[in-house]
Amino acid sequence: MKILMVCLGNICRSPLAEGIMKTKVPSHFMIDSAGTISMHEGKHPDKRSIKTAANHQIDISQQRSRPITNADFDKFDKIYCMDIDVMADVISKAKNEEQRQKVSLFLEALNDYENAEVPDPYWGDMKEFEDVFQLIDKGCDAIFNQLKTIHQ
Ligand code: 4NP
Repeated sequence: MKILMVCLGNICRSPLAEGIMKTKVPSHFMIDSAGTISMHEGKHPDKRSIKTAANHQIDISQQRSRPITNADFDKFDKIYCMDIDVMADVISKAKNEEQRQKVSLFLEALNDYENAEVPDPYWGDMKEFEDVFQLIDKGCDAIFNQLKTIHQ
């Protein structure tokens, strides 16, 4: 199973999703993350995301931001998007129905359609980063439970 986590800049939310998901899945799973913009390409995650993850004993400091590519749609089985704008952008890059089918909203597995987006913490403070961490942690649990049910 190959999973790609996607947000806008690939420096705040999706690096956390990548780091958290890696702690929950068996080692043969492949987890990566990307952004829809290339503005931060090559940069390490935002210091606040690195610190928040470190507070939970997760090291995301070596990750590097990269934009999503056409090849990702073939390489990954599932592409999870942090919010609706990101998902619309990702879907617009898909070439066919098979690729579109791989794309979903990250929090969809929680079945809470009123709060289905992971808010962008970029302009916020450390409390918002911690809240986002907790939300992503719940989302990762829900996704892993869903995948276990589908694939057993
Ligand atoms: P992310 O957060 O999508 O969770 O990585 C953001 C990162 C950068 C910007 C916005 C959101 N930006 O405007 O540069």
